[in-house]
Amino acid sequence: MIRSQGVCVKVPASTANLGPGFDTLGMALSLYSWIGMKESEHTQFHLYGDQMNGLTADKTNLVYQVAQLVFDEAGVSLPEIEISMYSDIPLTRGLGSSASAIIGGMVAANALIGSPLSKDKLFDMASRLEGHPDNVGASLFGGIITAVWDGIHADYIRMEPHTNLEVLVVIPEFQLSTSDARKVLPDQISREDAVYNISRSSLLVAALSQGRFDLIGRAMSDRLHQPYRASLVPGMSRILEEAPNRGALGVALSGAGPTLLALVDRGNLRKRDLETYLLDTMKEYGIQASARWLDPSSDGVIISENMPSNSFLDMIKGEVEA
Ligand code: HSE
Repeated sequence: MIRSQGVCVKVPASTANLGPGFDTLGMALSLYSWIGMKESEHTQFHLYGDQMNGLTADKTNLVYQVAQLVFDEAGVSLPEIEISMYSDIPLTRGLGSSASAIIGGMVAANALIGSPLSKDKLFDMASRLEGHPDNVGASLFGGIITAVWDGIHADYIRMEPHTNLEVLVVIPEFQLSTSDARKVLPDQISREDAVYNISRSSLLVAALSQGRFDLIGRAMSDRLHQPYRASLVPGMSRILEEAPNRGALGVALSGAGPTLLALVDRGNLRKRDLETYLLDTMKEYGIQASARWLDPSSDGVIISENMPSNSFLDMIKGEVEA
């Protein structure tokens, strides 16, 4: 039942919220991490690349821990495993790096023992760990996800992103933890703000599913989290206001930030101007940032069940950025 050759999975990054869909909407992005997993006599880790800095290489490692959750749930005992990891997803920037580790670890562990757990079961387990389904759902299923998490089970619908949809992310050099970015949120909001967000989030889902690019900008406004998080990301309020007039279809804080995300029509001739505007504006506020043009990733996590005998690095070579 255990795949002795081991498994390797490729997991996309993700952006959550898309403005008004706080803890609800997620989209997978064409930036990836890879996790290899094998049965072993002693637990060991091979962490490659800059994005692994600071990650633990013992049994406290998140990927090790989520793998054990999967084994427990499946009734399998496999305490010693070899884990290899490489990631191009920047850490703690609002691009779902921890969600990709959770999904990668769970899916790899499940594949290693013959996939006894369904994807929906893994989604429930991952949502429970994260506390919300938006990033993990996007990394697991790919595309655009709208999801409801009731604390036990996640219901979701996956939408295929429009082929003309392109994504520009501006990633500040500084890190912002999700827990810090959640602490600034109020416990209560007014009915007016609730209606403001429900209506826009609903419109955004309909606009994305029907390719109504004309409505995306207005649908992406938010009163639930972005106004409160603005103080944590200098320049953000101005960018949210101005970027739609500079060539973005819509703009939002990516997840809990600090990355800012612009949805762009692939054919837009002002793409370079938009990029320059975003970087220059952040610079005006003293923030060094880098810009990346990404695509929505239609694929969620992909499993290579028969990992060839060559090494993890040989296997992912040619795909990674470094
Ligand atoms: N929906 C979450 C938030 C995403 O905005 O806090 C962060 O992982």
